[in-house]
Amino acid sequence: MPWHSSKGAEHLFHQGGDKLDDDLIIKTTDLTKSYGPHVALNKLNISIPKGATGLLGPNGAGKSTFLKTILGLIQATEGEGRVLGLDIRTQGDQIRSRIGYMPEYDSLNPDMEAIHQVRYSGELLGMNPIVAQARAHETLQYVGLGEQRYRNIGSYSTGMKQATKLACALVHDPELIIADEPSNGLDIMARDYMIETLTNTVRSGNRSVLMASHLMDDVERVCDNFILLHKGKLAAQGRIEDLKGFDREIEIHVWGGATRLYEAMTKKGMSVRREGRVMRILHEQEDTTSLILGCAAEVGAQIRRMHEYEASLEDLFLSIMENLGYEVKSSEDLLTSPVEARKVDAPEHMGGGAS
Ligand SMILES: Nc1ncnc2c1ncn2[C@@H]1O[C@H](COP(=O)(O)OP(=O)(O)OP(=O)(O)O)[C@@H](O)[C@H]1O
Ligand SMILES: [Mg+2]
Repeated sequence: MPWHSSKGAEHLFHQGGDKLDDDLIIKTTDLTKSYGPHVALNKLNISIPKGATGLLGPNGAGKSTFLKTILGLIQATEGEGRVLGLDIRTQGDQIRSRIGYMPEYDSLNPDMEAIHQVRYSGELLGMNPIVAQARAHETLQYVGLGEQRYRNIGSYSTGMKQATKLACALVHDPELIIADEPSNGLDIMARDYMIETLTNTVRSGNRSVLMASHLMDDVERVCDNFILLHKGKLAAQGRIEDLKGFDREIEIHVWGGATRLYEAMTKKGMSVRREGRVMRILHEQEDTTSLILGCAAEVGAQIRRMHEYEASLEDLFLSIMENLGYEVKSSEDLLTSPVEARKVDAPEHMGGGAS
């Protein structure tokens, strides 16, 4: 890591009680955006609470368009939206002065020193030049560029440029940070650093973050909530924790008597996916583990390994999109229809659905 390590977020963010009155920071009603005949956002009804939310979706899903529309940078074709209580159609300037936006594209001037670039961002947002300068030092320190702040941005690595973009977004101490693919193009170290900095911003800084990403890992590390867009529509939204909890399985490796064990468990109504000696059993009840061990003892099968297996969000989202499509609106919907969801999650090569 070529950078200076970041300080805690406490130094950077003014703690002064909650700045947001309402728990909803973003709300849209039938928000639609068309580029000519192409509908990029299709009647989106989205409510985003305070905290950290991941905006997920494959390429072209409409993530960047959504962010630009709610920032008032591009005009919605139809529908309404409010950010921090402000109207996205008429109050874009005010929204942008209260939000830190880290765009997807390269928004930096390669001929400027980072310190000047960040100060300039603050001045554009109406900050007093002296205050902007002081904040530029602080924010660059915070994103790990304290030592390199007098270098021309043109000489920076991609990771350093992304960090500079984040410093620009934080310069005016916004209550909400909107980051479009913040870890795009970064190597593992730089990506970890970016994700950690965003996490600090939420946890210690008590700020809200809305981050677009197609990397489930990043979203999982920073965010509590997710929104999944697919072809401009809302495919699913809810709490990441719920999705993960719902899909928990116990994985066992069986030597001797695998088939007998498989049969015994399915006969008891357990949901088992099998691939040879490896089986995954849905962790439905408190005593699933002892039920498995009981079955093994009964049929004389030997369990060599046993551990909790968590499906990745990626698997889960692919399943949602392929099989449940737009029917799923929240993680609650998923939880109330676990049988369908379970069927979805069992690939045929692993023995099909629930038994
Ligand atoms: N300025 C534009 N003019 C015409 N079409 C556009 C424009 N910007 C985006 N689109 C189209 O709108 C759709 C949504 O694009 P958008 O950039 O919002 O997706 P995204 O989810 O951010 O994708 P990515 O993961 O690649 O960044 C795509 O089909 C894209 O081609
Ligand atoms: Mg995008």
